[in-house]
Amino acid sequence: MSDKTQTSGGWSGRFSEPVSEQVKRYTASIDFDRRLYAADIAGSLAHARMLTATGILSASDLADIERGLAQISAEIERGEFTWSLDLEDVHLNIEHRLTELVGNAGKRLHTGRSRNDQVATDIRLWLRGEIDRLIVDLARLRQAFLTLAAHHVDIIMPGFTHLQVAQPITFAHHLLAYEAMFARDSERLRDARRRVNRLPLGAAALAGTSYPIDRQQVADALGFEALCDNSLDAVSDRDFAIEFVAAASLIMVHLSRFSEELILWSSPCFGFIRLADRFCTGSSIMPQKKNPDVPELVRGKSGRVVGHLMSLITLMKGQPLAYNKDNQEDKNPLFDTVDTLSATLSIVADLVENGITPIPGKMRDAAREGYATATDLADYLVRRGLPFRDAHEAVSRAVREAEAQNIDLAALPLATLKQFSALIGEDVYQVLTLEGSVASRNHVGGTAPKQVRAAIETAKKRLGEENIHV
Ligand code: ARG
Repeated sequence: MSDKTQTSGGWSGRFSEPVSEQVKRYTASIDFDRRLYAADIAGSLAHARMLTATGILSASDLADIERGLAQISAEIERGEFTWSLDLEDVHLNIEHRLTELVGNAGKRLHTGRSRNDQVATDIRLWLRGEIDRLIVDLARLRQAFLTLAAHHVDIIMPGFTHLQVAQPITFAHHLLAYEAMFARDSERLRDARRRVNRLPLGAAALAGTSYPIDRQQVADALGFEALCDNSLDAVSDRDFAIEFVAAASLIMVHLSRFSEELILWSSPCFGFIRLADRFCTGSSIMPQKKNPDVPELVRGKSGRVVGHLMSLITLMKGQPLAYNKDNQEDKNPLFDTVDTLSATLSIVADLVENGITPIPGKMRDAAREGYATATDLADYLVRRGLPFRDAHEAVSRAVREAEAQNIDLAALPLATLKQFSALIGEDVYQVLTLEGSVASRNHVGGTAPKQVRAAIETAKKRLGEENIHV
């Protein structure tokens, strides 16, 4: 047996030659899965303690393992651990070092376990911690939206459908729409967490193990809510990771939509907001430009996370039960999803907290120029007895006239308005104002400032009850 096969992963006895350099590089995961080291060590400790409690391992072996793993953890954290490509992945690297440090006890750690249930346990443990951090990041963003909204309850802007001016809304109401999306995103992460938080260990390679193990003890030690029911399923499915990346994709999609709006709003053609300079860059050739780089990159990075969702879901689809090496490819998409999402949530929170200044005059002008109160005029006529379809027709003609004169509906004299319907009286000007329009949408979920104030309080309360410490 060559030295190389001896140092590789504990399965070399059956092989007559070592793997080629190329195969080794191609199949190794150590360059990326070392990120799971803390979860791997925590899982090994819980496993070793259970093996001791059930009489499979001696107390002195456990003491050696605990000492060895503590030292390994310290070495890794100090950057002194030597990761070896020959040892393929994080599991074999740590186990090999443990054996170097404590001898036979290290070799006994893998009793009743396989890398298949080990890696599934590691990913779940790691992902659970990341989900908890992301929920906090999301809470900070939601708080930022609520604070910004509370400052701008009375600012009126045009609301759009088809990106055409539709009806006046309050700026705060628009912001609250995003808080509602992120509140659901938070719910989705919590929900996915419940299914992430189940213990695969004990499934061993695929069929379970012949040792008298106590899986519940391991689950309790690691804080898993339940055991994976079926050993084949436990080692093979990555649906929990797919669910998480799907939830992450939705968050990125929501962030991307918001970014798209920031990009539009900050363009001089809209001019609804000013983005703080530190979130923008200049152009090397056009001195007048201020480019909204941060929102553009958020929009761009959403594609990356949605791509990871496609990777993971495609990774699963052709795999027969149980574990296949394909699953090693789950890590990079998962890691990059967490990194991209976490960085994006943090920069967007900063932007919402410090980077957005509304320009109310521009918003009002756009609402007026777009005849945003036309529906209010139709509703006024309906209240006076005209059927809605007829009212719609009368107002269309009024809008055409205002457009021809290039003025606001409210600037048409009463005599002109009366040409479109005799039902129009002096009091029409109350409904044609932007303030009158938004104030009239005064029900739960509506845009009236009174409702928006109440909605902010409700959202704050809900966020408070989630008990997240930002
Ligand atoms: N590095 C592997 C992975 O990420 C660990 C499991 C390997 N199991 C095996 N039977 N080769 O999936």
